[in-house]
Amino acid sequence: MDDLLSRLDQLQKETEADSAGLSDATLLEQFRIKYLGRKGAIQQILERLKELPPDRKKEVGKRANLLKAKLEQIYQEASGRLSAGQVRSTGDFFDYTLPGLQYSITKLHPLTVVTSQIVEIFYRLGFELATGPEIETDYYNFEALNFPAWHPARDMQDSFYLDNNYLLRTHTSPVQIRTFESKKPPLKILAPGRVYRHEAINVRSYSTFYQVEGFYVDKNVTLADLKGTLFAFVKAFYGEKIKARFRPSYFPFTEPSAEVDISCILCTGKGCSLCKHSGWLEILGCGMIHPNVFRNVGYDPEKWTGYAFGLGVDRIALQKLRIPDIRLLYENDVKFLNQF
Ligand code: DAH
Repeated sequence: MDDLLSRLDQLQKETEADSAGLSDATLLEQFRIKYLGRKGAIQQILERLKELPPDRKKEVGKRANLLKAKLEQIYQEASGRLSAGQVRSTGDFFDYTLPGLQYSITKLHPLTVVTSQIVEIFYRLGFELATGPEIETDYYNFEALNFPAWHPARDMQDSFYLDNNYLLRTHTSPVQIRTFESKKPPLKILAPGRVYRHEAINVRSYSTFYQVEGFYVDKNVTLADLKGTLFAFVKAFYGEKIKARFRPSYFPFTEPSAEVDISCILCTGKGCSLCKHSGWLEILGCGMIHPNVFRNVGYDPEKWTGYAFGLGVDRIALQKLRIPDIRLLYENDVKFLNQF
């Protein structure tokens, strides 16, 4: 009968080794079947008790039941540990059915898009690019451009002065003067850039906006050249069907001066709220460069002639993209910008 006792000793050692490795549900179930199952090691010993004489039966039975209780305790503890571990490990759980992260695709700002469309058309017409500083002196912004001292644009009301001499440029026309000073004609230049004006902010005007300046100086440049170039631009930008007209105007640095209107892109000329029922939309100012401007930069006005024009990029973008308020272009609201 000692063989049952030694079998119990052996089992005890085996279970100690096995209970150390109960690291998952499968191993735990194997442990239960092996020792505690209906045909498990404990049951087998209990079944053989009847072969023993009564005095031995009591002793061996007691030891077998102690081992059984111990094994049940090990089983319960391990199963508790595993289910607690499972709750904790849900942090690592990955749901493959969730929709993926949305990455936003970078887009160009509408003003950038419209500026590059304008630049590209004039590039094809032979214009070169130039830039100038946004902080200008009174000389480049006004004086050299033939602005008389009394001109209202010089007023503090219209310009952002930094001190008596420096101001934020109110237009891109000073790039004309800077280019004339550094280059000799013939020249054909396009100068896009940001400008600033001290104006009441509303649906139509903002304290900053964008212009594209263009100018061409050569021998025998005529108003017909200006008209031909601008009409070619208008057709390329708005399409063949668009109509354009020259309307007389005034700028200190051009003579004669004009403004260009296009037939309304919304009502095609019938009259609507966009064109204020006139059928026309103003898009730029232009003219033949004033002889005084040439004199100021040392060009001989008897020898050289030229034209200049200045487009309002914001106005063109608002019209073309049907944006109702200029402020939307400067608020950088992604929900707004994503529409273009
Ligand atoms: N600088 C003018 C403005 O800001 C626009 C302009 C008009 C530019 C006529 C020109 C021009 O070059 O010839 O209102």
